[in-house]
Amino acid sequence: MKSIQDKRALVTGGNRGIGFAIAQGLLAKDYEVIITSRSLENAKLAAEKLQGKVIAIELDVTDDRSINQAVKTLHHKIDRLDILINNAGVYPDKDVNILTIDRELLDFAMNANTFGPIRMVQAFLPLLEKSSDARVVNVSSGYGALADLSDDVPSYCLSKLALNGATIMLAQALHSKGIVINSICPGWVKTDMGGSSAPRSPEQGADTAIWLATDAPRNISGKFLRDRKVISF
Ligand SMILES: NC(=O)c1ccc[n+]([C@@H]2O[C@H](COP(=O)([O-])OP(=O)(O)OC[C@H]3O[C@@H](n4cnc5c(N)ncnc54)[C@H](OP(=O)(O)O)[C@@H]3O)[C@@H](O)[C@H]2O)c1
Repeated sequence: MKSIQDKRALVTGGNRGIGFAIAQGLLAKDYEVIITSRSLENAKLAAEKLQGKVIAIELDVTDDRSINQAVKTLHHKIDRLDILINNAGVYPDKDVNILTIDRELLDFAMNANTFGPIRMVQAFLPLLEKSSDARVVNVSSGYGALADLSDDVPSYCLSKLALNGATIMLAQALHSKGIVINSICPGWVKTDMGGSSAPRSPEQGADTAIWLATDAPRNISGKFLRDRKVISF
């Protein structure tokens, strides 16, 4: 039986915002944490601010070469991954709506927010399969809930709606492998993305992801949660 000290997590976009708070929370629970950023320097700078066993690596979730390179780099350092937190995300909608948004912006959001998490699961599957308690958390958004789609936030809403769809499909595909996966909404959080008016701290935004990654019952899979409770897709 592995102790918690032996457990290891990877958090995409772990260098700032909610991802940094998730990394901090997992380290406080004695997990080893791999934080990724698009820039190795930023990942290293963030790692210096964290207490515990941290590995900093470069990873762009929109770029398969970068994902494959990260797997290769980690191959020399780790033999197993217990937790994958697909937290990295973009919110590119500015002065656009569903009638005016161009293909480039739609591509950009879908690539980072939806295809990135799917490709991360595919690429890290061999390492996740080596864990006896593998868990994946996709950091989605209330904007991806069917009831809360907004025509003024087109690429972000669509990409998070599709991410929630990917969570359902991945849960089906991963069930027989004993890997659980869920989507979460962190609420409106004070970060570079959320802005300074947001009511929640990054730590509050990180709570449900940390709980699902560590203590939540393993029979919760393929669901969408906020504040540790299942909500409607
Ligand atoms: N803040 C909110 O109110 C809120 C609400 C609902 C959902 N969320 C979701 O929560 C997650 C984290 O958001 P946040 O508020 O912490 O945002 P943030 O402060 O803007 O941080 C975004 C993170 O994503 C990383 N990232 C962006 N594009 C990437 C890419 N192509 N490859 C790898 N990493 C990439 C960034 O890394 P770099 O430093 O390399 O750019 C950064 O670490 C996102 O998925 C977001 O959609 C946030």
